[in-house]
Amino acid sequence: MLPKTNPTTTDAWKELQSHFETISQKSLARLFAENPERNKTFSRSFESIHIDFSKNFLSVETVQLFEKLARECQLEEGKKAMRNGDEINQTEGRAVLHTALRNRSNQVYKTKGSDITSLVDEVLADIKAFSSKVQNGEWLGYTGKRIESIINIGIGGSDLGPFMITKALKPYAHPGIKTYFVSNVDASDLSEKLQEVNPETTLFIIASKTFTTQETMTNAKSARDWFMATANENEHIKKHFVAVSTNSEKVSEFGIDTQNMFEFWDWVGGRYSLWSAIGLSIACTVGYDHFEELLKGAEAMDKHFFETEGVTDNIPAMMALLGIWYNNFFGAETHAILPYDHLLSHLSRYLQQGDMESNGKYVDRNGEKIDYQSGQIIWGEPGTNGQHAFYQLIHQGTKLIPCDFIAAAKPPHDHFDHHDKLIANFIAQTEALMIGKSEQQVRQELANSGKSHEEIDRLVPFKVFEGNKPTNSILIEKLDPRTLGSLVAMYEHKIFVQGIIWNVFSFDQWGVELGKQLASSILGEIQGDESGNHDSSTDSLINKYKELRSH
Ligand code: F6P
Repeated sequence: MLPKTNPTTTDAWKELQSHFETISQKSLARLFAENPERNKTFSRSFESIHIDFSKNFLSVETVQLFEKLARECQLEEGKKAMRNGDEINQTEGRAVLHTALRNRSNQVYKTKGSDITSLVDEVLADIKAFSSKVQNGEWLGYTGKRIESIINIGIGGSDLGPFMITKALKPYAHPGIKTYFVSNVDASDLSEKLQEVNPETTLFIIASKTFTTQETMTNAKSARDWFMATANENEHIKKHFVAVSTNSEKVSEFGIDTQNMFEFWDWVGGRYSLWSAIGLSIACTVGYDHFEELLKGAEAMDKHFFETEGVTDNIPAMMALLGIWYNNFFGAETHAILPYDHLLSHLSRYLQQGDMESNGKYVDRNGEKIDYQSGQIIWGEPGTNGQHAFYQLIHQGTKLIPCDFIAAAKPPHDHFDHHDKLIANFIAQTEALMIGKSEQQVRQELANSGKSHEEIDRLVPFKVFEGNKPTNSILIEKLDPRTLGSLVAMYEHKIFVQGIIWNVFSFDQWGVELGKQLASSILGEIQGDESGNHDSSTDSLINKYKELRSH
């Protein structure tokens, strides 16, 4: 079981508080002046991923205190509990074993005493067989044509992971297969995609762990109706609809042959499931071998995470502790993910669920309300677009926003001039955020441009940048499946470490239930004669909607 330590009661927490008073008085530029080689002290490499932590409020003493905090909060015990298949998702009575899904080196993974490695291997073999048939044109639609379009219907973890990965691995996609993702119950989402595809050549993957999620089941039924309007025979469904789920009963109730169901298990959390059969759309798009490379990259990061004790050399743990440092001591409320890579344009949305659904909790593992901050708000957009939108606030706003800058050195195209410009912007931004621009520099620049003394005095306050904005720089060699797997697993483990230290249960998501319950009873009121017991605002919104809808 997981430790249940309130981090704020540890000695390390108190020491970090007084250390904060000292280090926050220094500028990042001063930290570099004190140790010009600090990039070496605070950079780490993992395979072809280079991470530079040095543009952070970090000293050797800070890292020692991170180590102490991790020890006092029993991080190593937590890691062992997860690796050993203990039911660390205590409120749902489940183990947390997404790492077993990428166990390509055949280590022992057990839960409740039984070995799960063969279960994983069997489903992977099914994914391999099926995706190969789709890729090589052996899987035929009801009129004998090969599959040209795949529509993955799912939401949350059954959408965001495969969506982000298939986008990121676009250069590896089969040229004759186009993959779409439908998640929103707003029918504009589904109809937009249906307009682009042909029922004879379209494969629908209905991805839902529970197979009861309102959005997914509504979209799946409408997709089936659309398909049947042309195909007519029920018999044809099995060539065009497959399911990914833990719920075989609901899958066959829906009309999908359970032969065409790819299984996963309750020890895989939705937001950690892209490595499971939920990744079927990935394998069908980029090919099984690339999917397996993705798993192997994640496995390599798992090995690094589980086998590297402490924080200093453990990359996900260092990222986690830095996040806690800014969240709990510097008062930063958000964290930006800024990939300088168009292919990673869905990464921050993916990490929003991974991070915020995991650690957005105000009750600790003892069942008590916490009086410190837990999960951060994760957000971001790819650079350089973000520079022309929200970077103003990061540079000169009133909020501290630590950022992760991510880029690949080798682009998947040969427009090297574009790429050099992209990376120049990445590097320039991290430097600008750190050093800012002093009053003296601004005065000099304005004087050089011929401004009068009065104009200079008037403009100076607006043109000064304080700097001191911390960033992590993550530079990878190439965005290939293996590196992407490692990168995503790195963030997963970061989230895990933060959950351990914040003393919250990271693998349940009770906070999303109330909205679902209320939506289903309000739907009864909208579509039927039921009446609910609401406040006047809610009642009037329901009535206003009914009135406007019928005009
Ligand atoms: O919104 C909550 C949630 O349970 C997520 O955790 C999950 O990823 C998503 O809904 C989809 O659930 P399912 O795969 O069961 O359709």
